[in-house]
Amino acid sequence: MNDIEKAKKLCGSFNVNEHADGLVCLDNAINNIIPIIHGNAALGERSLKQGLQSFGTACLIEFNNTVFNFSLSLGDKEIEPALARDIYAFVFHAAQNAGKHSKADRVNVFVERARDTIEVSIIDNGQGIGWYIRTFKYRFGLYTMRDIAASYNGRCKIQKVSKGTIINAVFPLKLKSEMPKVVTDIFQSTKVS
Ligand SMILES: Nc1ncnc2c1ncn2[C@@H]1O[C@H](COP(=O)(O)OP(=O)(O)OP(=O)(O)O)[C@@H](O)[C@H]1O
Ligand SMILES: [Mg+2]
Repeated sequence: MNDIEKAKKLCGSFNVNEHADGLVCLDNAINNIIPIIHGNAALGERSLKQGLQSFGTACLIEFNNTVFNFSLSLGDKEIEPALARDIYAFVFHAAQNAGKHSKADRVNVFVERARDTIEVSIIDNGQGIGWYIRTFKYRFGLYTMRDIAASYNGRCKIQKVSKGTIINAVFPLKLKSEMPKVVTDIFQSTKVS
């Protein structure tokens, strides 16, 4: 019986002592559902760290044959919201792809802040993305990841290795408002909602 069914039974019981147990079951159900609700490419009002942590939990629930390990080293300083949203969307598509397509049993996600950059890597030990697929048969996920990286004048590097796929991108920490106009123009024309 799942938590919601248990909660319904306990909260509907004539024995009032069981009501508190019912509420505990409801709390458990809510805790399980929240990461799934948050499991879309929108970061919303959350910080990058909060969003990635709950997305990591959601991946573990959604892809239960794969161990997802999120290693986040983001420092204490606020990351510009537009950059945070873009990095979140990038990791979202790459990790979802690893969960859905790679047949990996392990996916490691690194999001690491250096002095002037944030480096993102998503590494799985699955079957790898073939050249033909990544060049011609991509859809929304790979398109979005490349588009986001290009909007920061960077590149989404996709490598098929002997056991799996490595995806990397490096994002400049510089605020968009401080970027040269030519870069902000590129960003405006390629913005991902
Ligand atoms: N980590 C991976 N391992 C193996 N194959 C992958 C991986 N990531 C992507 N692929 C392959 O690349 C294809 C394109 O990925 P992409 O994210 O663009 O599209 P999709 O996931 O099929 O659909 P969408 O993202 O639009 O829901 C996938 O269909 C899959 O065949
Ligand atoms: Mg995809």
